[in-house]
Amino acid sequence: MAIADGAYKDDVSPGGSPFRPLYDDRIRFSGQPIALVIAEESEIARFAASLARVEYEEEVHATDLYHQRGAAFALESPANPAENPFAPPKPRGAATQALAAAEVRHSGEYFVPIEHHNPMELFASTVIYERDAKLTVYDKTQGVQNVQRYLCGVLEMKPEEVRVISPYVGGAFGSGLRPQYNVVLAALAARALQRSVRLVLTRQQMYVLGYRPAMIQQIELGAKSGGTLDAIAHEAITVTSQYEDFYRQETGWSGLLYNSAHAKYMHKLARLELATSCDMRAPSAATAVYALECAMDELAAALELDPLELRLRCYSDRDQHGDRPYGSKHLRECYRPGAATFGWHKRREEPRSMRDGTELVGWGMATGVWEALQVPITVRIMLTANGHAEVSCATSDIGTGTYTIMAQVAADMLGLPLDNVTIKLGDSTLPQSPVEGGSWIAASVSNGIVTTADAVRHELLRLAKRMPNSPLAEVASDEVALVDGKLVSKRDSSCVVSIADAMRHGGVDRIEQEKSTTFADDGSHAHNTHSAVFAEVKVDEQLGVIRVTRVVSAVAAGRILNTKTARSQIIGGVVWGIGMALHEETLIDHKFGRIMNANIAEYHVPVSADVHDVDVIFVDEPDDHVNPMGIKGLGEIGIVGVAAAIANAIYHATGKRVRDLPITLDKLQR
Ligand code: MOS
Repeated sequence: MAIADGAYKDDVSPGGSPFRPLYDDRIRFSGQPIALVIAEESEIARFAASLARVEYEEEVHATDLYHQRGAAFALESPANPAENPFAPPKPRGAATQALAAAEVRHSGEYFVPIEHHNPMELFASTVIYERDAKLTVYDKTQGVQNVQRYLCGVLEMKPEEVRVISPYVGGAFGSGLRPQYNVVLAALAARALQRSVRLVLTRQQMYVLGYRPAMIQQIELGAKSGGTLDAIAHEAITVTSQYEDFYRQETGWSGLLYNSAHAKYMHKLARLELATSCDMRAPSAATAVYALECAMDELAAALELDPLELRLRCYSDRDQHGDRPYGSKHLRECYRPGAATFGWHKRREEPRSMRDGTELVGWGMATGVWEALQVPITVRIMLTANGHAEVSCATSDIGTGTYTIMAQVAADMLGLPLDNVTIKLGDSTLPQSPVEGGSWIAASVSNGIVTTADAVRHELLRLAKRMPNSPLAEVASDEVALVDGKLVSKRDSSCVVSIADAMRHGGVDRIEQEKSTTFADDGSHAHNTHSAVFAEVKVDEQLGVIRVTRVVSAVAAGRILNTKTARSQIIGGVVWGIGMALHEETLIDHKFGRIMNANIAEYHVPVSADVHDVDVIFVDEPDDHVNPMGIKGLGEIGIVGVAAAIANAIYHATGKRVRDLPITLDKLQR
């Protein structure tokens, strides 16, 4: 009997019917795996695979978004947004009439091509076939328990028969959110052969794991001549496969970011003969805010207003969708130091008015916005009498610094030196965690640690109170803190019991607590992170060669847990934004429906020579609403707005507006 396609669903599957590797004789996209060759050596396997001959019947296919835009279908906005947070938001006001009546209007069509994640290392799955037919799977994934559940569904195995391990993920950027075909193939092979199998993809094979959907966007802005917005209309067409409907709320960002009484949205999906598109760093915002922020720059030009001044005049202190306040929004506080550090006030308004020798100089800016999300999570802490703690959770560290911040928060909450804290993650046998994505893990796991550390402290106090003549006998639980390996009364610091004494008298050598944390959001406040990005480009006047010589990114993302890892995240986002603006583009030969540049020689990304000064500023943003520690997360805000700031700088340098990414020199010379 066929396994229902529901078995192939994973925690973050979009609607539709997931791709099932080696399931039937249908070919859905070029690059689909249709056979697996196993050998003792990978070289032999690859050679053997080259000998396989495949016969198939050709069918009509479509891979060109521009050709299929007429066939794209519109997504409905549900009456209750909670039903589908990715559907376009409900319109407000009467945008059509307001646009028609606006004193100043701008409309433009913007394009972002398909882009690929391209982590440096290759995707690989190693399946250890254990003696009792259980599987231990080493996989490159952002969610070990997601892969475990998925494999259990696909292989009809029990959770205790499949263990998935991924302590070091490397780069992922969203490509490791869903279980990938390599893990299924490796597991199938291991079961068929009853022996361990390792499957390492080639770079080319990674180009069908998923991609940032290409996006055609139309933005229409209506403003008063004084520089306030009346109306925003945002239409988007994005790409998905023939078998699943992947999309995010691409259009809602424009109605959220600026004060405008009227707003309307339209989001259409075009089905192509490609693998399903997927999340890629700041999915939807990276692409949508690019278009919005270029359109705002064009509106500023039409208004003859400084682009930063336009943002300030349109500033919104409230969440425009839900008409509610923000838990915190220090975007104004990003604009100011960002502009000051950059030297924005020295900008000459006129395009082509600034130069440096043979190069035209351009200064552009843009706003960035992302969500501050939180997810239910479980954390276990085992504290031993010698003052060592092991903190464990099945989350991942995708290079964002999760190990580091978990250790920091735990050390802080348990009053232990950092070296006394061991972090265990990336193992499906550990306490529950969703995939690491959406910039939600830092806040979620930190709060999980706080909650569990509280439970450890309560238990320690219970033991300490039972000691004869306990100095903490009369102290309430919330009146003690763990400091330097001791329980200390907050009122009287002479009332102290060491961890070792409390445990010795209690007759235990360890305390273990495991707590789940959920986030009951009452919906009274909106939670977002923001940034202000300023970019300088120098463009060779004769050749059109573009260099991004300076970027200043000022970020408001609640409490920053670790400035080193946080800064590193934002720099990474800026570098990626440079790639988005100038380099990245997946090209398809539509005759064959095949990706032509499925390698990192012809798929261009920024290299060191492309990255010059990058300055990151974190603005203070206290937030009592988002969670007790005021953490918002910043894995994704770093890229949002960067491509727009650079595109706007290129316009300012050259007077030429290129509305399709990447801005290559041929487009500039056209
Ligand atoms: Mo992120 S695109 O949710 O890994």
